[in-house]
This record gives sequence, structure tokens and C-alpha cells, in this order.
Amino acid sequence: MQWSIESDRGSADAGQFATPNWVAELLCSRLRRTPKDVVDLGVGKGALTTALIDRFPSARLIGVDNYPIPQGIQAEMRADGVSLISRDVTEPNFPGWFVRRYGKMSTVICNPPFTYLKNDPQVQAKLTALGFGATKGAKLQRMDLVFLAHALKMLKPGGEMAFILPISAFAMSRTFANLNALSRYFGLREIIALPQSVYQSADVQTAILIFRPDVTNATRSKFTVFNARDGQGIERIGEFSAEQLIRECKGENRTVRASTTLSSLGAQIARGKHSSNTLAHQGISHFHTTSFQNYPTSQIHFEDGVHPSVTTQVDSPAQEGDILIPRVGTRCLGRAAIVMRGSQYISDCVFRISAPSAERRNIWEFLSSETGRDWQLALARGACAKFITHQDLAKAPLPMTIG
Ligand SMILES: C[S@@+](CC[C@H](N)C(=O)[O-])C[C@H]1O[C@@H](n2cnc3c(N)ncnc32)[C@H](O)[C@@H]1O
Repeated sequence: MQWSIESDRGSADAGQFATPNWVAELLCSRLRRTPKDVVDLGVGKGALTTALIDRFPSARLIGVDNYPIPQGIQAEMRADGVSLISRDVTEPNFPGWFVRRYGKMSTVICNPPFTYLKNDPQVQAKLTALGFGATKGAKLQRMDLVFLAHALKMLKPGGEMAFILPISAFAMSRTFANLNALSRYFGLREIIALPQSVYQSADVQTAILIFRPDVTNATRSKFTVFNARDGQGIERIGEFSAEQLIRECKGENRTVRASTTLSSLGAQIARGKHSSNTLAHQGISHFHTTSFQNYPTSQIHFEDGVHPSVTTQVDSPAQEGDILIPRVGTRCLGRAAIVMRGSQYISDCVFRISAPSAERRNIWEFLSSETGRDWQLALARGACAKFITHQDLAKAPLPMTIG
């Protein structure tokens, strides 16, 4: 059972599937506590380890795997200062042995094998003690959960863990109990759903999970869910408790949440009072539909303040925190940008959405996502020149993931 140098997979029985670089980089980018001592459980060809060293060059890294790693790759990791250990992570005494020898770690990173190990009373007791729905008397238990249970024992207080897990380990009908366990005992903070294509040869839907087991009880119950778009950043879906996400997965929340609208979230919507031509004639710098293209990151920093005296009629400029979307224009509709700094007038072809600060980020992330773009386009009326009405924007039901 050995990895080859060339292939991104080794033996399926040993769960040897290499993590694509963009996923490894994304996983490391979600760590919020600077890693000092790191262990990579099931290091394989080092995708996670390499991404971590690139981001945190001063971290001390230990890689564990119980299958042979190709010599050339071992040499490269050792040259980067990684210590490699050949050991079975599922062995009952492994965490104790490791901690005696290397101490507890600030960070555990892991893409475990998505395979099974023989159940016995010890394995059974370990998983049940952590709240996992480990079927009593079953012949086999999930190996990924045993990796998780052992990782927890190897972590320093204040430490952080980042795992790649199949969705089937925690959020499918038979494993919902596991989601509660991850939230309660492991301090689950983030789930980042990965596209199906990531481990296509393993035919499995996966997610990155970030754990901070020492979070306080007040914040422990909620975690944030994101969707990763193939190397194109991540999209925030919302904040959930385990119970809410389970209801969401079972489809029980749909009718309640479908009635959330921008208006019910407390957002004020207004459009500019003057046309772009009028403003331009008066020499007033302003934001028009064509301005969106000047802000490819969808974050606007206005250089100047506004000069109220020059307008013929009073108008309210867009200010810090406002979200701007186009009101008309077949080619422009569907965009969204947020004002990070400064203020500026907007033309009558642009809507300004002022949302309560607690909802602002959610709304902006939604409106600037693919789903939000489709939502805006679905609101557009008009055969030739498409436009969105104030009423539709304020009252249209938002997808159940917002609010
Ligand atoms: C999904 S691969 C991940 C490899 C690498 N970390 C990555 O992300 O590309 C799982 C790794 O766990 C190793 N492995 C499987 N069973 C193991 C066990 N019982 N103890 C330690 N490592 C194991 C496999 O050899 C493989 O390298």
C-alpha cells in the first residue's frame, strides 16, 4: 500500500487520496491562531504540511503516516524541517505515546483516511464518550472519527484543528448525532463545503472543518457554514447551531425562512435622485452603473467626501457600509459592491441598501455571490432595458440561507 511519486492517489484501502493544493491552501488560510507546533495526521505526500509551511514558515511540523511515503517526497519534507514518524494513528495508545514524546500541539491538521476499522469495546467506548452515534455491536467503525478523537487528546489548551471530512461523517441522516458531538465536544467553528470534484476518484462529498475546542459556552453553540467554489474563494451560507443545520438538512425550515426579505431584515433601500447626466453636468463625481467595473473586488473606497452645496436638490450620498447594486442595464444587473470608506452621490440607476450592521455582511456576501446574482436577475422586469423595482427588491423572498 504505497503512494507513487506521480499519482495523486495511492491505495484506496488505505484511504490514500492527495488533497489538491488549492484545498490545502484554503484549509491553512482558515486557521486563526498562529500555529507553533503542528502535527499532520496521515501526512501522505504532504499536501497539507507543505501548504502550512508556506503560510507559517516558523512552525515546527511533525507528519505521521503508517504507510511508506516515496523517498523523494520524504527527503523534500525533511529538507523543509518536517519530522516524519511511521505510526498507526488509530492505535489506542498512540495519543499518549505521542504527547509523552513530543508534547501537546498548538495545531492539528488532517485529511484522514475515509475508511473503517474493526470495532471493539475500546473503540466503541471512545466514540460514544465523545457523543458520536457509534452503533453498538457494529462490526466496523469510522476511522476518520477515531483520528478526530485522538487529535483532541493531542491538542494544547487554546489549540486549533483543521480536518477534511466526508459530509457522510456528520451530516447525513444516520450521522446527524455526530454533528451535535462536533459542536459540543470539539468546538466546531466552521464548515466549508468543498465541490464534489475535489476527491472525484474517492466519489465522496467533503468539507473542511475548523475546531477550536476551548471556545466559551456562549459562542460554542454556533458555527459558520461556507461553500467553496473550485479555487475561486468561498461564499458564506450562514451561521447555524447543530440543531438548526440538522433541521435545514432535513428541509424543515423552508417555509419559515422563505419569507425573509431585505425589508424584514430592516434594510432601507433608496436610489439616487439625479441622472448620471445631470450630476456630470454639475461636475459632481458620482457612482453610476458603469462604475461597478472599477471595483473588481466589490469593495469601494471613495476618495473624496461629497459637496452638498452643489446639488440642486438634496440627496443622500452612499456612505460607509452601504451596499450598492445596479437598478437598470441588461449588462450591469446582478452586480453588488459595498462602500468600505468615504461617501459619494449615486445616480438614479443605482440602488443603495443600508442594512443594520448585524445583517450587512450577510446581505453583501449573498448579493455578490452567484446565487445572489441569479436572485437579482430573476427580479428584473422589462423586455429590452431590464430594471428592478424598489418594491420587488424590498419584498422578494430571500433564499433560506439568509437571515
Ligand atoms: C486522505 S490521505 C491524506 C494524505 C495527505 N495528508 C493529503 O492531505 O494529501 C490519508 C493518509 O492517511 C494515511 N493512513 C491511513 N491509515 C492510517 C493510519 N491508521 N495511521 C496513520 N496514517 C494512516 C494514508 O497512508 C494516507 O497517507
